[in-house]
This record gives sequence, C-alpha cells and structure tokens, in this order.
Amino acid sequence: MVKLSGLRKRFGETIALDGLSLSIEPGEIFGLLGPNGAGKSTAVNICCGLLHPDAGVVRIADAGPPTDCAVRRMIGVAPQELALYQEFTGVENVLLFGRLFGLSGETLHRRMHEALEFVGLVDRRGDCAGVYSGGMKRRLNLAIAIVHQPRLLLLDEPTVGVDPQSRNAILDRVIELKRRGVTIVYTTHYMEEAQKLCDRVAIVDHGRLLAVDTTERLIAQHGGKSAIVIDDNGVSRRIETDDPMAELTRLNRDGGLQNFRVERPNLESVFLNLTGHKLRD
Ligand SMILES: Nc1ncnc2c1ncn2[C@@H]1O[C@H](COP(=O)(O)OP(=O)(O)O)[C@@H](O)[C@H]1O
Ligand SMILES: [Mg+2]
Repeated sequence: MVKLSGLRKRFGETIALDGLSLSIEPGEIFGLLGPNGAGKSTAVNICCGLLHPDAGVVRIADAGPPTDCAVRRMIGVAPQELALYQEFTGVENVLLFGRLFGLSGETLHRRMHEALEFVGLVDRRGDCAGVYSGGMKRRLNLAIAIVHQPRLLLLDEPTVGVDPQSRNAILDRVIELKRRGVTIVYTTHYMEEAQKLCDRVAIVDHGRLLAVDTTERLIAQHGGKSAIVIDDNGVSRRIETDDPMAELTRLNRDGGLQNFRVERPNLESVFLNLTGHKLRD
C-alpha cells in the first residue's frame, strides 16, 4: 500500500530522514515508533505529498507518488499539528475539507454527518472548534481526515494532549477503521499504544530504521530477558531470567516468596537495547 525507498530529508544542518525504507501492507495498522525528533512527522508529511524528499521515492498502492492528485485522493491525514479552523464549527470544518477533496451536494453532507458521528462529535457539531477540548479537537482532526473515505490513513501522534477518555475513543475508532479495510500508518512515541494497536511496528531513531516486525517478534529478538524484582523489606533485588515461571518456582522453594513482581520486556526494552537510550528522554 505504501512503499518508501531510501528517503532522505534535511532541514539545514538537521538530518530528519537518513535513508528510510519501509513497505506497508494493505489493511494493516503500521506503527512508526520513535522518540521526539526521530523523523516520524517528516516521513508522514512526505507520504502525503506535503513535503518533498531530498532523495528517495514514495509510491502509494502501486498507483504513483502522493503528489499525483488521483493518488492524493486515496490518502487521509490527521497531522500532528492540528489542521482545523478554530473559528469554524465542527460542521463547517468537515464540509470545507470534504469540498477540497471534491465532495459536493448531498454526498458531502451525508459524509460530513457520518464522519462527525464516527468520532462522537454530533452533539457539539454547531460549536466553534476553538472552544473544543484538546480531545475533541483531535477527534475533529480525525473526522476531517476520513470524510472522503481514504484507503490509506496517516495518523501523526493522534493522542497527544488528549484526556484518557478521548484517547480510548480514538484508539477504538482506529481499530474500527482497520476493520473496514483502511490501511493505517500510526506514529507515536507511546510504546503502549504501538504495542496495543499495531500489526507491525517500525522503530525509528535519527531518521533511520532500526527494526521492523510484529511486536512479539521485536520483543523476542531485541527485548532481552524478563526480570523478577523482589522487595525484601524495602531493599529491592532484581533477578534476570529467560524463564520467569521456573525461576519463581525455584525461589519459592528456597524460601517463601512474598513481595515480588515480574517485569517482561516490552517495546521500550527493545528501543533501549537497540539505541542505548530510552524512548522518552
Ligand atoms: N520544518 C523544519 N525545519 C527545521 N527542522 C525541522 C523541520 N521539521 C522537522 N525538523 C527537524 O527534523 C527532525 C525530525 O523532526 P520530525 O520529523 O518532526 O520528528 P518526530 O515527528 O519524530 O518528532 C527534528 O530534529 C526536527 O527538529
Ligand atoms: Mg512528530
């Protein structure tokens, strides 16, 4: 559905993308996971034709580059920097962007209503976006991105600055869009979201791809060992092991285990092992 080959982009002295290649399959939720400044937004903005790479190419659905109008129409994007007019109502915002994508008449109005309903903003449709909460603005950003029913949806940090309720609503809507067959590229620096949502995850840092695979395989390959952390009257002891169940059994036999927890490797451990630093520095 999306093929990025050797993308390079610099802004003055800053290298934002350093030869990024990725292949995204139809129908998957593909996560781009990396810390702030990793190059995720630059990659997304190139994928939807907003930015031109210095080198490399993007092809969408074997149809061409996203700068072709017909190709661009297949793509919906919810940018990290909200793309909506604060002084317009929810309805007016969605109508405007629907029109830009060539919708009109009854179809435009029906799609506008469906999009607002999809993100749970029908009740507030007549209010100016400027008075919406952070979570409502993010949901309107999503409604705008889907009004023309794109086959490919690019979501750039769609949960930043939202309350937990809107966050769950957004994650739930993303899963529903996948169910409807939309291919989704989801950028985030929250490893929990990538882990929960994505069929495959690409880990990026300094504009380079470090690893790409399913979460399970990334963790198995790069996550490192599990650990049993035992609290002995306030002194904590950490035992690394490949087989926490066997280790717990052994420890328990040696003398009554009481306060302990098992830490399993996650995408954060994968990132740490690949880069030597944490995802959220
Ligand atoms: N328009 C721009 N002008 C100058 N530097 C930029 C611009 N856009 C991005 N950068 C820089 O490029 C790097 C990658 O940025 P970005 O793609 O936004 O990363 P991410 O989305 O992963 O946080 C960062 O160092 C950022 O400061
Ligand atoms: Mg970004």
